Amino acid sequence: MTEPDNTTNPPTVVAIDGPAASGKSSVARRLASALAIDYVNTGEMYRAVTWAALRDGVDIGSETAVAAWVATLDLDCRLKDGRSTILVEGEDPSARLSDDAVNRGVSWVARVPLVRQLLVECQRRLGREAPVVMEGRDIGSVVFPDTRFKFYIDASEEVRARRREAQGITDTVTMRDRMDSSRKNAPLMVADGACVIDSSELDLDQVVARVLQQLAAWNYPADLLQRATPVT
Ligand code: DC
Repeated sequence: MTEPDNTTNPPTVVAIDGPAASGKSSVARRLASALAIDYVNTGEMYRAVTWAALRDGVDIGSETAVAAWVATLDLDCRLKDGRSTILVEGEDPSARLSDDAVNRGVSWVARVPLVRQLLVECQRRLGREAPVVMEGRDIGSVVFPDTRFKFYIDASEEVRARRREAQGITDTVTMRDRMDSSRKNAPLMVADGACVIDSSELDLDQVVARVLQQLAAWNYPADLLQRATPVT
């Protein structure tokens, strides 16, 4: 008898997609903590690979060069202490993931099909290991298209620029969004069936409260939902 293939359909993945600085990371982290389940940040995975490519002097403008290089890269993605971690060739790049060079380069590396294929495999494995909240650009559209629990967190360009500035981050968000939305492979998009929340006029608690409400309406597993501390 063949095992049921739930590769793209583990029952409890909550997918949170959206553009840069939309607030989706804060929402995903807070939600995972409210539900007492693991938080997976897939942007960090693309950033980790970008950091390693730059360190190794790879020409990230060349898809062929990036693909040849990444094919032999040792990536170790895990769930640890409630969140995702990634080691590249045994090294932990966390301290370098917001470097200017990584901010500038990540959309180039993320458009390479082999990079995406390798990271999507990691992401699906993590989503099968435990209930998770997973955030990114293509979680609801490509990584777990069959999950029922999909959100797209948006915010106006002005609000996103302001939030970025408040965090002291000088990032080319607009340029990144343009590249992430227009690439051929798994572009940023609103996945079929996703609940779109515009966070421009809402604070974090209000967005998380809406997400929890929607999860309840979608019959998200009650044992997990009951653990959530009510947010107003
Ligand atoms: O979430 P973030 O801003 O840290 O993501 C960094 C970049 O990684 C983003 O500009 C595009 C890419 N990315 C992606 O292509 N797919 C994902 N699931 C997550 C991030």
